[in-house]
Amino acid sequence: MATTARSDIAARAARVIPGGVNSGQRRVPGLESLVIAATSGATFTDGEGNVYTDYHAAFGPPLLGHNDPEVDAAVAAAARSVGLMGVGVTEIEVELAERICELVPSVEQVLLTETGSEATFHAIRVARAATGRRHIVKFQGCYHGWHDAVAMNVISLPENVGNRDPLSKGVLPEVTEATIVCRFNDADDVERALSEHDVAAIILEPIPHNIGAVLPEPGFLERLRELATEHGAVLVFDEVITGFRHALGGYQSIAGVTPDLTTLGKAMGNGWPVSALGGKRELMDMFSTTPGRPAFFAGTFNGHPPTAAAALATIDKLQREPVHEHVFRLGERARSGLRDLYARLGVPAVVSGFGSVFVTYFLEGPVRSYDDLLANDVDLFVGYRRELMKHGIFELPLNLKRSHFSYAHADEDVDRLLEATEAAVTTMLAAR
Ligand SMILES: Cc1ncc(COP(=O)(O)O)c(C=O)c1O
Repeated sequence: MATTARSDIAARAARVIPGGVNSGQRRVPGLESLVIAATSGATFTDGEGNVYTDYHAAFGPPLLGHNDPEVDAAVAAAARSVGLMGVGVTEIEVELAERICELVPSVEQVLLTETGSEATFHAIRVARAATGRRHIVKFQGCYHGWHDAVAMNVISLPENVGNRDPLSKGVLPEVTEATIVCRFNDADDVERALSEHDVAAIILEPIPHNIGAVLPEPGFLERLRELATEHGAVLVFDEVITGFRHALGGYQSIAGVTPDLTTLGKAMGNGWPVSALGGKRELMDMFSTTPGRPAFFAGTFNGHPPTAAAALATIDKLQREPVHEHVFRLGERARSGLRDLYARLGVPAVVSGFGSVFVTYFLEGPVRSYDDLLANDVDLFVGYRRELMKHGIFELPLNLKRSHFSYAHADEDVDRLLEATEAAVTTMLAAR
């Protein structure tokens, strides 16, 4: 395939696509003319033919690596045999639902959506329908999608921490006001919110990966479970990132804490657009998929057979092959190598992560909550990642963004990552 120069494609994009990209997070300062020509396994190729080892991984989906041949073959086979009908159900949707119910502890019933945002939207809707309450609790630093109730307080400026900080104009103030923002790892803050307001749902990423990897302290998730039960609020684990990536049963199966509702997405379909909302039967039963039930649920593309096939093929491979063992081992090697490296260089750093996910914050620590991350040395964080690109390695050069290993990464990738990181950080420090 002949490749057009990337500057041409980016210029064409800018004429017909506002900002030249199809998601607000894709236009990265300094990389405005980045064009992706191809992806394969652990790499992508840009419009000029440069190949990068990819740790950004599209914010998380390709756990098996880009273009996994088995997943892609399953999609093609499904597309040949059953297209979208918009009435009734297909066997592949049932098989996928059965598999998710078997695997994820909290899930007794499940509905399929295309995106994670739709899944969290419906989680909140059904929680309000079930409780008749108004407020929801989210945490500073967690991201749950683009819809009005949750698109706020992710990576906030210091002056906005502690206030409601919507990501967008155009949101009704009463919607923003109905979301209470708490500090992660601060159960007292949540208890206060539950005592003072009529809270329908507490929604959280069990590991807030949208700000890298802030780990829940021992007892925090358990305490949220108790508080939600005591106060009659619905506990929602947004496992759009952690689900399937950290374990087939999601992070809840590792933590041993069972929420009322769970949202899943990203790694579930290894790059194909499929997501899910599952949970307790008594809540899931409230959706209008059962006639007369109060929580409206619809979507032309929900349960799309080829994407359901992608999810089933992904889950099959996760069950059949030592994917988690592999990515966890590489993640651990990278984290421990990075810790040694920063100790040797005398750079204050907290190397965090879980399983396949890793991130280095340039600060003294400890890291318990978003406000601790305000101390991150943003110039170094973004700068070394820009330098890494010169070594053919791509970690997203945006503040606090995490990196991922996939099944397609190998031990040599860890070696190259460590060497290149040392060179990149050293270059950054020398320039100061
Ligand atoms: C934890 C979490 N929840 C929900 C979403 C929204 O998913 P989507 O972008 O598929 O709508 C994201 C996306 O990054 C996410 O990280």
